[in-house]
Amino acid sequence: METTIRRIDMQDAWTIRHHVMWPDQPFDFIKLEDDPSGIHFGLFSDKDLVSVISLFISNEEAQFRKFATVEHEQGKGYGSVLLSYLLKEAKSYEVKRIWCNARENKINFYKKAGLQETKDRFVKAGKAYIIMEKNLDT
Ligand SMILES: CC(C)(COP(=O)(O)OP(=O)(O)OC[C@H]1O[C@@H](n2cnc3c(N)ncnc32)[C@H](O)[C@@H]1OP(=O)(O)O)[C@@H](O)C(=O)NCCC(=O)NCCS
Repeated sequence: METTIRRIDMQDAWTIRHHVMWPDQPFDFIKLEDDPSGIHFGLFSDKDLVSVISLFISNEEAQFRKFATVEHEQGKGYGSVLLSYLLKEAKSYEVKRIWCNARENKINFYKKAGLQETKDRFVKAGKAYIIMEKNLDT
């Protein structure tokens, strides 16, 4: 199996986002107003798109959103590889701080990638989130 990461169109990210994150919601639920200005990355196993993540840069800060790996490919390390690629990529855009709204059950996953918990937490659509961040200015 050959693993490659490259930029993808937002429409390709939408398909996986919907399927993995909010399958019970209408397709448009997973679209973001900011998607046209986002940078979307996909990890391919051979020709199959298995994991997606989207980066939104605002001056020296960036948020990553809508990170998803197709269900039958989860737990194989693809997400970790894609996230680590994204962090390097963000640094190359001179981003100094990167953050995300992490689902509470993913805190440890993000800690492994070097993100830290902040004090900010919220609940959306019945799911608990915590803002996590990483300083890239080192
Ligand atoms: C979050 C998500 C994108 C991670 O993608 P993934 O491809 O499963 O990520 P990985 O396989 O790299 O890591 C997942 C887990 O498997 C473990 N893992 C990675 N490679 C492994 C391997 N070879 N053998 C066993 N376990 C492995 C990781 O340590 C990680 O464990 P943890 O969750 O307990 O920290 C995926 O779980 C997902 O799509 N979830 C649903 C949507 C979602 O929650 N998105 C994030 C919102 S914050």
